[in-house]
Amino acid sequence: MENELTDLQKRVLELKKERNALILAHNYQTMDIQEVADFVGDSLELARKSAEVEGYDLVIFAGVKFMAEMAAVLSKDIPVYIPAPKALCPLAAFVDSEKVLEMKKQHPDTPVIVYVNTTADTKSESDMLCTSGNAPEIVESLGVDKVLFGPDSNLAEYVRRRTGIEIIDIEPRGHCYVHNQFDIAQIELLREEHPDAVVIAHPECPPEVQDAADMVGSTSMMARTVANSPKKKFIIATEMGLVHQMQKRNPEKIVIPAYEGAVCRQMKKNTLEKILYILEDLPEDHLVTVPEHMVAHVRKILEQMNKAPSTVEVLVAKTS
Ligand code: 13P
Ligand code: SF4
Repeated sequence: MENELTDLQKRVLELKKERNALILAHNYQTMDIQEVADFVGDSLELARKSAEVEGYDLVIFAGVKFMAEMAAVLSKDIPVYIPAPKALCPLAAFVDSEKVLEMKKQHPDTPVIVYVNTTADTKSESDMLCTSGNAPEIVESLGVDKVLFGPDSNLAEYVRRRTGIEIIDIEPRGHCYVHNQFDIAQIELLREEHPDAVVIAHPECPPEVQDAADMVGSTSMMARTVANSPKKKFIIATEMGLVHQMQKRNPEKIVIPAYEGAVCRQMKKNTLEKILYILEDLPEDHLVTVPEHMVAHVRKILEQMNKAPSTVEVLVAKTS
């Protein structure tokens, strides 16, 4: 993991200290960003970290906009900056607040659970939130036999199969363009070539790919499985940023991407140069805000989500 830092990375670290800034980064960020971040994790871990930023003067969130919005809501008075304000997750665009309201009308008394990959506006009309790291637990915790769920239909299927609860898709076409590219033929070919490898997939992958995997979980669960498993070889069905992280952190293991084209262009809009620019200039147009009237409800459901149990232990146990 140890390697010589570049001049740019050194400058970012110097200024980060001077500004008393905290850098949070998602697992899909490029390695040069991950190496200067104070914390790298999945959406759930980043939401939990965002609620513990007291003592810092500012937060820089290297991820997509909905993640930085969660941080802005949870960090209260501490300003949150995003290096690339236009880093929008296309999955989030499948469901807006109007769609949630329309579905609520059609299914009265059915709770609405949305994936964190949604705008603050969509969250503000929803009853509960989940991430890929806790979706089945959150749905089960409601103690109901039917829920409205969105926007990712593959994650919905993952929850349906694990809980047996009726899951009504808010938008059946909702998908992540990066994870929808993985297909069963690729996985089967790679399994033939590497029969000793463990296949790990993200729940945003299509259901057939989830079925073909030995383990399905959030990005950090995938990372922990590679780090903790006694196995040596892994086939990974998720975005390439995490594949690079796994290989760097576990040089003694062989990490094979299920598809090298799995690159989230939105996540990659963040760059180290943009992080330096924020530290130098504190540009107002990189400040992340959520409309005042939405903040209280979104904070309430984020805090509820952060307290709920996650799937980590279960999945690590399954693969060891
Ligand atoms: P994780 O919460 O598993 O990190 O996933 C976030 C995401 O955007 C996956 O595409
Ligand atoms: Fe959105 Fe998919 Fe990118 Fe994750 S990988 S941020 S779900 S587009």
